[in-house]
Amino acid sequence: MTSPFTLSSSFKLNSGFEIPLLGFGVYQTPPSETSAAVQEALKAGYRHIDSAAFYRNERACADGIVKSGIPREEIFFTTKVPPQAISYEGTKESVRKSLGEVGGQLKYIDLVLLHAPFGGKEGRLGAWKALAEAVEEGTVRSIGVSNYGVHHLDELEKYIKDTDAKLGKGKGGVLSVNQIELHPWLQRRDIIDWCQKRGVLVQAWAPLAQANRWNDPSLKDIVKRTGKTGAQILLRWSLQKGFSPLPKSVTPSRILENTKIFDFELSDSELAVLETDEYDYHGWDPTTSSL
Ligand SMILES: NC(=O)c1ccc[n+]([C@@H]2O[C@H](COP(=O)([O-])OP(=O)(O)OC[C@H]3O[C@@H](n4cnc5c(N)ncnc54)[C@H](OP(=O)(O)O)[C@@H]3O)[C@@H](O)[C@H]2O)c1
Repeated sequence: MTSPFTLSSSFKLNSGFEIPLLGFGVYQTPPSETSAAVQEALKAGYRHIDSAAFYRNERACADGIVKSGIPREEIFFTTKVPPQAISYEGTKESVRKSLGEVGGQLKYIDLVLLHAPFGGKEGRLGAWKALAEAVEEGTVRSIGVSNYGVHHLDELEKYIKDTDAKLGKGKGGVLSVNQIELHPWLQRRDIIDWCQKRGVLVQAWAPLAQANRWNDPSLKDIVKRTGKTGAQILLRWSLQKGFSPLPKSVTPSRILENTKIFDFELSDSELAVLETDEYDYHGWDPTTSSL
């Protein structure tokens, strides 16, 4: 069966920059193992690495990127402002620190996200202003948020519109991405609808449900019928939904396995059996936090 996606498929962000759809996650990858895992991923064909200041492995990601020998401009690197730094000053400092970790090797950061909608209204909007300033300074190319629910997105959209109206188009910052936990057992349809209507790319964290749902009967049935693995089916589900999945692995065979998702397609009926109303989140769900 033909597939409209390839390993090099990308999405044009609202910022104008292209992002490869398949990303490689490094949450909980120890710094000592991160450079090797990133090199393995780049060898397998990934061109998009998803890190965060909170993961403490930004420098090791940059090391792996440089050691891969692949030209810098062919690779997309994301980091995030930690949840406890969501304020104007905190974000200024966090971006400075991240640039200190990777700037020497990577020169610029492709995407910086606010890791969570914490810090209260003043903190959130101040943090966003600091990100917009980083884009103006040229050290960061695109900006976005993570774990934002619709109420957080509405608040941000109003700030951007008001600021643009007051100071000129683009001055409020351009929202390119919302990264949320997403898999068949956690489908945030309201958030996805909000983002997709505005061209905001939805990135799926924990696209493999952190390896917790291999025994799901619907998934097992599709595994049997397609001959693909559960991981490959979940990643393909993400792509066909229009998301950018960010699978994490430190295991070379799985890093490669997770790229073999472009030679098959899930049918409408297979997609239909993966529609659930479950609310199975892993670790945290800041999308529901109050304003
Ligand atoms: N913005 C946020 O708040 C947030 C939160 C969490 C994660 N993230 C991002 O999203 C990325 C992915 O999320 P995640 O790491 O939580 O979970 P995940 O990618 O859903 O699952 C990772 C787990 O699946 C295993 N695995 C990977 N490929 C496999 C395969 N083919 N077969 C069987 N098991 C497989 C990994 O094991 P091995 O490593 O041992 O192979 C690991 O235990 C993170 O690394 C991070 O970049 C963002």
